[in-house]
Amino acid sequence: MTMDKQMHQRAIDWLNQAADLLRATLDSPLQVKQKQNAHDLVTEMDCRIEDYLIQQIRHYYPNHQILSEEGQGDVFPNTEGYLWIIDPIDGTLNYVKEKNHFAILLGIYYNGKPVAGYIVDVMNEQLYYGIVGDGVYLNHQPLLPIQIASLETSLIHGNVHLFIHNRYQAREILNHSLGMRHYGAAGLDMISVIRGEAALYLSPRLQPWDFAAGLAIFTAMNYKMTTPTGQPLDLLKRQAVLACHPAVHSQVLDIIQSTDSEANNN
Ligand code: IPD
Ligand code: CA
Ligand code: CA
Ligand code: CA
Repeated sequence: MTMDKQMHQRAIDWLNQAADLLRATLDSPLQVKQKQNAHDLVTEMDCRIEDYLIQQIRHYYPNHQILSEEGQGDVFPNTEGYLWIIDPIDGTLNYVKEKNHFAILLGIYYNGKPVAGYIVDVMNEQLYYGIVGDGVYLNHQPLLPIQIASLETSLIHGNVHLFIHNRYQAREILNHSLGMRHYGAAGLDMISVIRGEAALYLSPRLQPWDFAAGLAIFTAMNYKMTTPTGQPLDLLKRQAVLACHPAVHSQVLDIIQSTDSEANNN
């Protein structure tokens, strides 16, 4: 399915509106609630951005399905037809504590296949998008990534718990690289790979709304985003994710599968 131009323009307009609102209200008092634990937060702005995007989609595309983190989308979406996957604020902890390093994520899928992905780095006013069959853009200009030659000459991004507990041979992967960086917002960590600042991003547990936008952009670039055993991602499930430059994907899979039996269970 090729991306409809009007749908693309609408998505961009809505995301720009949402990012403007987040920047304009940054210094206003914020209601913050804990979800599962002290690291897992939701603010009234997560719900407000989600509500705004869903209202727009429902108005213009009432037959499309929506999967969204804070629960205002469809209760049991499937992958038939159009599916919009939304993370209204990716990096809510950063949003609350840093007022920086957070993003808005949107993936558009048709029959389970990526059509387009959008990541707004809100505080840097950068809109990244990838259209499958067309290309990848930063603020409407074709994105020219930094070249990645090998793992040994690259930085990597990853969830720190992976390295503490050495899951998926994370320390071995790190030892092959020049070092690790981490934003704590999956969309922005994926952007590091998209820009060629890092060769990979590895996370033990991402929800569909954390990876859907990135997966569409990676697909548009012919980059690799799989499970740590190289399997395709399931759009409707939480799972471990390896997002990789194509030059290092098979080497990283070999490292993970060399001794890690846990990875084979994911
Ligand atoms: C979280 C961030 C974080 C990742 C978590 C996500 P949220 O998203 O992307 O980097 O490690 O797994 O849940 O909850 O801030 O949208
Ligand atoms: Ca969250
Ligand atoms: Ca979120
Ligand atoms: Ca997220």
